[in-house]
Amino acid sequence: MSARVTGSEAVARGKGKSAKVVPRSAGRVIAIGGGKGGVGKSVVAANLALTLGRMGHAVTLVDADLGAANLHTLLGVTKTGPGLAGFLDHELESLEAAAIETVVPTVRLVPGSSRPGVANINHGQKLRLLRSIAQLGGDIVIVDVGAGTSFNTLDFVAIADLKLLVVTPQLTSLQNAYAFLKGCVQRVLRRLPEDEAARARLDALFSGGGEARPIQHVIAEVRETDAALADLIVDTLVHFGVGLIGNMVASPREVEVVSRVSRMVSDYLLVHAPVLGAVPMSQAVRASVDQRSPVILGPGGAEVAAALRQVATAVLGLEIARVGPPLAASARHPTLPIWIERELR
Ligand SMILES: Nc1ncnc2c1ncn2[C@@H]1O[C@H](COP(=O)(O)OP(=O)(O)OP(=O)(O)O)[C@@H](O)[C@H]1O
Ligand SMILES: [Mg+2]
Repeated sequence: MSARVTGSEAVARGKGKSAKVVPRSAGRVIAIGGGKGGVGKSVVAANLALTLGRMGHAVTLVDADLGAANLHTLLGVTKTGPGLAGFLDHELESLEAAAIETVVPTVRLVPGSSRPGVANINHGQKLRLLRSIAQLGGDIVIVDVGAGTSFNTLDFVAIADLKLLVVTPQLTSLQNAYAFLKGCVQRVLRRLPEDEAARARLDALFSGGGEARPIQHVIAEVRETDAALADLIVDTLVHFGVGLIGNMVASPREVEVVSRVSRMVSDYLLVHAPVLGAVPMSQAVRASVDQRSPVILGPGGAEVAAALRQVATAVLGLEIARVGPPLAASARHPTLPIWIERELR
């Protein structure tokens, strides 16, 4: 992927310049989710962005945790400007205009909003936001989302070319990550049929059979009436683009616990979700948060920095352009799935 994303676009790099909106190459939007709160999604998002930035990539980090935004704190940014709220309020026409510089010159931040009620964006606002995320400048766009499985949160992850799930070795985190990904898969698949009736049938198939029903059963039932849709579902799952990042990992055994989710995702959702790295449990992370200074840049952060370099290398090694949704229409926006484009029409 690196050849695709580096130097491929005429993008103004940081320093308050507004980037030109130019056609994008596919495979640039990476979302960081995980379902459970407090597992380290934002710590990973901020430090992964800085790691990729220090490797020479132009990164735009978006704080899409509507209502509980704190990436600016983790990055030590004090002057946030209008941020995402300014875009939602139509004070700014694009998220690009909200991007501000960070301590690493190749990394820009679109600060989020903690205004009460901001999470309750309507459908139109969500589509406007998703489109503006896809139009952001930079080689790589990293989107940090909040906890939970609200449709708004799921959709921020569902549109991404690469969905990174942060999981800790705790059972509750593993359960929530699986449920989150399952929710994402359902959000994407239910948009594949163009007609409402087929969509309703698919919804019914998903809701039947209880929690642990392998998706193969759904696909087999779809195939009985619509083989083309069944093929499209399989194709979408195979190219879904997921990676797992273990966080607060204290032993090799705990890394193994995280990789169990990978197997479960593969067995039950037909989605390939390799473990891309494991960030150790580190006192330096806690200290860095209180000091408003990114852990990888501070004292005691070497271990975490090494783990994130491994994750960054794995991310760059993935052919993100090929793990995105199937390319059906030739003229479509490369980083927006077909179903979002359909709604934007
Ligand atoms: N590797 C780590 N080692 C030790 N502590 C960590 C580590 N990663 C995160 N933490 C701690 O967990 C806290 C929560 O992290 P963070 O805010 O990134 O979680 P989150 O998943 O983004 O939470 P939310 O769901 O609320 O957005 C941090 O403030 C930090 O103290
Ligand atoms: Mg967070």
